[in-house]
Amino acid sequence: MGIPVNIPPIPKNAIAYVTQTIEKNWISSLCLDESVNYIDKLEKGFSEFVGSKFGVTATSGTAALDLAVAALSIGPGDEVIVPTFTMIATAACVIRNGAQPVFVDSDPDTWCIDAKRIEAAITEKTKAIIPVHIYGYPADMDTILRIAERYNLLVIEDAAEAIGTLYKGKMAGGIGHIGCFSFYANKTMTCGEGGMLVTNDSQIARRAAMLKDQAFGHPRFIHEEIGFNYRMSNLTAAYAFASFEEVNGYIQRKLDIAGLYHSLLSNVEGLVLPPSGDTNIKSTYWMYGILLNKAIFGRAKQEVRDLLQKEFKVDTRDFFFPMHRQPVMITKGFVDHGFSAPVADHLWESGFYLPSGVTLSHQQIEFVCNALKSLKR
Ligand SMILES: Cc1ncc(COP(=O)(O)O)c(C=O)c1O
Repeated sequence: MGIPVNIPPIPKNAIAYVTQTIEKNWISSLCLDESVNYIDKLEKGFSEFVGSKFGVTATSGTAALDLAVAALSIGPGDEVIVPTFTMIATAACVIRNGAQPVFVDSDPDTWCIDAKRIEAAITEKTKAIIPVHIYGYPADMDTILRIAERYNLLVIEDAAEAIGTLYKGKMAGGIGHIGCFSFYANKTMTCGEGGMLVTNDSQIARRAAMLKDQAFGHPRFIHEEIGFNYRMSNLTAAYAFASFEEVNGYIQRKLDIAGLYHSLLSNVEGLVLPPSGDTNIKSTYWMYGILLNKAIFGRAKQEVRDLLQKEFKVDTRDFFFPMHRQPVMITKGFVDHGFSAPVADHLWESGFYLPSGVTLSHQQIEFVCNALKSLKR
């Protein structure tokens, strides 16, 4: 089987909790039995963990982002600033709500949106900024919040990859107006497919909950808005809650894996290791990404990735293909003529991530590092 980039751990209580929802027959998003209401337990528990007052579960991180943009009433005629180096869901949520994403290049040190470049992208149409805590490293939230305040903008944190990441004493996702998380199978805690939005604003939370449920009104079948069905089922929430119970252990395991990679790879010439933060900033290394300098390492990243797979059965994953280079963004007119993002281009051209799942053993990581080192010329 080799070494995949991730194998999700099965939480200790997953089977018991899911079974309870089946035995009590509360399997949809409606649950009137408090003892097995895992949606409620998850929303309360996870939002408290992040340090936010309210949590709204959703069917995915993508759905949470869609809901965040919709809950802030961002739509046609509005612009939202998004890093070009991200997964497409960050930009797609803006487009699906009828607004225009405006891309910004990354900071070469953190790989997150370059906060110094945000102001130049602001126009009178700008309504929000969506920083992404990429691969578990937090974006420069102080600068982003300062800019947001100056221009009266909203901040939606895409914290899909940053469960447990700390920025100056606060948890990623709990800093802006809304934080969005993914519980996809490769995320730090998981239920296969799922997500959550957190906020301190009761009106935003209420509106997100209303929109995720078809915008049902009063009386029930009278609608004043077009909503979604982004309701997480209680079955899924039961699994997610079991995973949440173990989240601190998963985070610690991510830190241990990153520590081992750091120590085994730090003196390999031609590799740039992921940003590690300082006492104020704690990455959780969702995935351990590296940049490869072809001139020094002696091989390009694709050749290295192919050889790792072919010769050692070590799976790796490409870095994100930046949004400004995506065919769909170009053909649909979402990329400004002449826009360039050399840092994001460089990340894509030289970056990939190594196996990083919490179920990896010490020996497997050593094997991956030895395989990688053996390919240096
Ligand atoms: C940065 C980022 N945003 C959003 C998402 C979307 O999450 P989901 O896959 O749960 O829809 C992901 C998932 O990979 C992601 O990495």
